[in-house]
Amino acid sequence: MASSTLCVDESAGVTDSTCGRWSSSGVTFQKKADKLELPTTYGAPNVQTDVTLVSEFKQLKLEKEAQKNWDLFYKRNSTNFFKDRHWTTREFEELKACREFENQRLMMLEAGCGVGNCLFPLLEEDRNLFVYACDFSPRAIQFVKQNSCYNPDTCKAFQCDLTKDNLTDEISADSVDVATLIFVLSAIHPDKMHLAVENIYKVLKPGGCVLFRDYGLNDHAMLRFKTGNRLGENFYVRQDGTRSYFFTTEYLQLLFTKAGYREVCNEYVLRETVNKKEGLCVPRVFVQSKFHKPE
Ligand SMILES: C[S@@+](CC[C@H](N)C(=O)[O-])C[C@H]1O[C@@H](n2cnc3c(N)ncnc32)[C@H](O)[C@@H]1O
Repeated sequence: MASSTLCVDESAGVTDSTCGRWSSSGVTFQKKADKLELPTTYGAPNVQTDVTLVSEFKQLKLEKEAQKNWDLFYKRNSTNFFKDRHWTTREFEELKACREFENQRLMMLEAGCGVGNCLFPLLEEDRNLFVYACDFSPRAIQFVKQNSCYNPDTCKAFQCDLTKDNLTDEISADSVDVATLIFVLSAIHPDKMHLAVENIYKVLKPGGCVLFRDYGLNDHAMLRFKTGNRLGENFYVRQDGTRSYFFTTEYLQLLFTKAGYREVCNEYVLRETVNKKEGLCVPRVFVQSKFHKPE
């Protein structure tokens, strides 16, 4: 079922037409979609009928260079690309709901934290948090540590490949109350997503949960990919070599339940990005879900 309750904006600030990213400049904004139906690929025939996939050789190279490509992304964009995620709705409410008693200090993991656009607003808003924050890109972690709000009493940032490095090397097993995966799993090869999800499972407390938000199938970012960018089903490469998967709720449900999680909620969030100046209105599709580790 699609939901219309939360405004999601996954990027902002810089228009990056060369990367195939859909960024909002100062004149774009998002509004709730009127029709709660998933958009079709009509008008973007290349997306579904493009049978030509990127060659196996190039695909292997992209996988090998995934970390380098994200690091170069942060070298080019520094901390300016993704908008600070000052969500006042889900994350903050969820954190409150996770507490068994008032003022309980929650242990959180932000998996794939980037440069901290979600991390720092959360720490600012909620004084009773300790957040482990990890990312693939050493440069992103460096930016997090250099941020004037970074404080080792409330945060530990470390570099980590979620599909390879054991989180238990940095975080005690069964110790995390809430983990977030915000536009991260889409950047990981579909064959390896389960490794990230299983890795997080080990550090979650029984009863702890994962809050997930990412691109949904037929999001505008998917429809605008040109022929030659398709890596596989619902999986595309941008010009800067970073990749993006577009999720269905069914896919996500299978991925998490196979790893032992139970689904709490799992739904599409539909929005329209409106650019009045350019007369554009495009469909945005996100998936927002919550899975928990059974007690
Ligand atoms: C679209 S960005 C989102 C960053 C951040 N979550 C936010 O919302 O601003 C995707 C992030 O996933 C990270 N990432 C990609 N693959 C990863 C992996 N295997 N392990 C850890 N992080 C990864 C990238 O370095 C990048 O910072």
